[in-house]
Amino acid sequence: MHYFINTLHSYNRYFILIALAYVLFRAWSGWMGKKSFDKADNSASVTLLGLAHLQLVLGLIQYFVTSAYTTGGLPTSDPWVRYFKMEHIGSMLVAIILIQLGRTLSKKATVDVEKHKKLAIYTTIATLLIVVTLAMKGLLFGTLATAAL
Ligand code: HEM
Repeated sequence: MHYFINTLHSYNRYFILIALAYVLFRAWSGWMGKKSFDKADNSASVTLLGLAHLQLVLGLIQYFVTSAYTTGGLPTSDPWVRYFKMEHIGSMLVAIILIQLGRTLSKKATVDVEKHKKLAIYTTIATLLIVVTLAMKGLLFGTLATAAL
């Protein structure tokens, strides 16, 4: 069970990174180039939000049910336990909230350039948070098996 969920969570990271890059590209070029906000912009942001929500559900199952780091009663003096119990969940939750906010505020905006702007700003901060939090533990492109060595 844990292996299955962890593998999905691990692969979904790559889909999220690709979706983040695509949304960032469209939002920044749309904002700077004063382009119209079209169907492809909407689909890109819905896809990113869906992937982020899936990651949240998979993360919560691991956090509360399957992960030895967070459910095994291990001490937070261990850097990996502390990372998953506090740093990983904390920054990822904030990042997912920022992705959600970008989408919601962009939908509420009535002018197309504003829609791009909201997505660009919130998605940029979320991306930085995700990339830094993963990279500091070697998890941006690696897995626990390689990073924990
Ligand atoms: C954008 C959001 C997220 C990304 C990109 C992400 C990415 C990752 C990555 C790359 C790993 C290592 C997987 C491996 O070893 O192959 C991991 C593990 C883990 N994640 Fe996330 N994560 C995210 C959100 C969350 C959230 C919100 C939670 C908790 C609610 C969470 C809980 C966990 C836990 C508990 C593990 C350790 C699993 C284990 O015991 O091996 N993640 N995550």
